[in-house]
Amino acid sequence: MEANMPKRKEPGRSLRIKVISMGNAEVGKSCIIKRYCEKRFVSKYLATIGIDYGVTKVHVRDREIKVNIFDMAGHPFFYEVRNEFYKDTQGVILVYDVGQKDSFDALDAWLAEMKQELGPHGNTENIIFVVCANKIDCTKHRCVDESEGRLWAESKGFLYFETSAQTGEGINEMFQTFYVSIVDVCENGGKRPTTNSSASFTKEQADAIRRIRNSKDSWDMLGVKPGASRDEVNKAYRKLAVLLHPDKCVAPGSEDAFKAVVNARIALLKNIK
Ligand code: GTP
Ligand code: MG
Repeated sequence: MEANMPKRKEPGRSLRIKVISMGNAEVGKSCIIKRYCEKRFVSKYLATIGIDYGVTKVHVRDREIKVNIFDMAGHPFFYEVRNEFYKDTQGVILVYDVGQKDSFDALDAWLAEMKQELGPHGNTENIIFVVCANKIDCTKHRCVDESEGRLWAESKGFLYFETSAQTGEGINEMFQTFYVSIVDVCENGGKRPTTNSSASFTKEQADAIRRIRNSKDSWDMLGVKPGASRDEVNKAYRKLAVLLHPDKCVAPGSEDAFKAVVNARIALLKNIK
């Protein structure tokens, strides 16, 4: 009898993880967490004072995961309070507001603050970071586009999601992928599985796209001096075209960068004898 009984699947062992939120004040960190845990949105701004702490349970595959969430205050004033909460973290929700360029530019400083608090022996390599480009419902005010945010995140090996705590868009998908990635690391002995540890494009490609995006004119875009010769323009163009050709480059924004380079070359060659 026993032998014919269907085997009951043993639920996986439960796991306890710690995640923190980071990002400038008012970008929506608390609202993202509230939207996921309480399925609601609060439009009035209630600044987090120091740290908010909560526990939630989620399931990943067969496993029950107890998540300790430390929601940090973004205001610089609370640095002294939040700085001791960085250690022993498995996951970081890094948030910026797509309508506030400053909050996007500040992401590097947030990483630096974390690294500084973890000290020289602190290792962030096996921590899962998810970047939330939040407030995508505010389309009129958007000033950081998807490819710019995605390029920044993916070039660091971070996950990237477009979210709105107000409408709920992207929130569940973000948390689900985030938790699965953390569990993958835990089940791999605390190390990132090699398959998802690095970006699928090079730093050189990411840097070229950023430089092209920020260039002030066609000369600058091709990286040649104003008044450069036909040969110099063509040489610079060929180098960038090989680096960013859509058949070879999958970095976010590469297609637009490639088109911009093609157009810059045409514009320059028109005026060079
Ligand atoms: P600190 O706790 O000060 O670090 O701020 P925070 O990042 O936790 O921001 P919070 O979640 O408190 O949200 C700040 C303001 O932005 C509030 O008025 C929210 O209602 C609003 N907000 C948050 N997320 C969204 C969103 O996705 N869309 C819109 N339109 N507003 C949002
Ligand atoms: Mg908050």
